[in-house]
Amino acid sequence: MKTKPTTQIYSNYTTSDFLVWKTLFKRQMEILKPIVSAEYLTALEKVKFNSEKIPDFRELNKLLNSLTGWSLEVVPNISPQKEFFEFLSMKKFTATCWLRSMEQLDYLEEPDMFHDVFAHVPLLGNQHYVDFFKGISDIALKHIDNPRAIELLGRIYWFTIEFGLIREQDELKIYGAGIISSMGETKQCLSADVVHLDFDIPAIFHTDFRTDILQEKYFIINSFEQLWKCLPEIESCLQTVLEKEAKIVF
Ligand SMILES: [Fe+2]
Repeated sequence: MKTKPTTQIYSNYTTSDFLVWKTLFKRQMEILKPIVSAEYLTALEKVKFNSEKIPDFRELNKLLNSLTGWSLEVVPNISPQKEFFEFLSMKKFTATCWLRSMEQLDYLEEPDMFHDVFAHVPLLGNQHYVDFFKGISDIALKHIDNPRAIELLGRIYWFTIEFGLIREQDELKIYGAGIISSMGETKQCLSADVVHLDFDIPAIFHTDFRTDILQEKYFIINSFEQLWKCLPEIESCLQTVLEKEAKIVF
């Protein structure tokens, strides 16, 4: 397997990389515009993403820093959990800086920068969103040596940051990065073929997920402020579940 870059050297992007970015950006934006969260579209404008230019991390870091104090930390591949949460806790989002090939437009086994940057980065300019992101990471770090706690918090992460839906003016919209960067997910997640549930922390703790299929269940928030405000409830509910499970004797 080709070694992935650990730093962004902008001049290393090839004509083919620019074509991949342009193709994916245009294709996804066409689908997303009417169905993605207005908060994401506003944030996308703030970070100045467009189809013609692969985002430059140095420019992006300056922008994000001025918006919310966050920045990007380049990683070659998906980060181990502890490293991921440690960086988030320091207001740094770990992101790859390489792009898939034209042959891999629709399926990748691991996230590239179209997912990490196009889908995740714009909302790093939204204060309630990043406060929630940091808050969930701070809770995870308190439990980092407890795999069950990390599994449960992983479900909160999965059904919000990656596959969350938001209600805006009585309409369901997308904000999860796992949906935003996937053509299949964007087409399916609002359809009548899937289950839509109101955001509910105990329910999420009891909902397992698969990473290798299109999702069948989505949780809906009303605002990013709601996510941020529920951090104490996430922490107390996690404690309750862990204590309850510890008492079960087989
Ligand atoms: Fe992601």
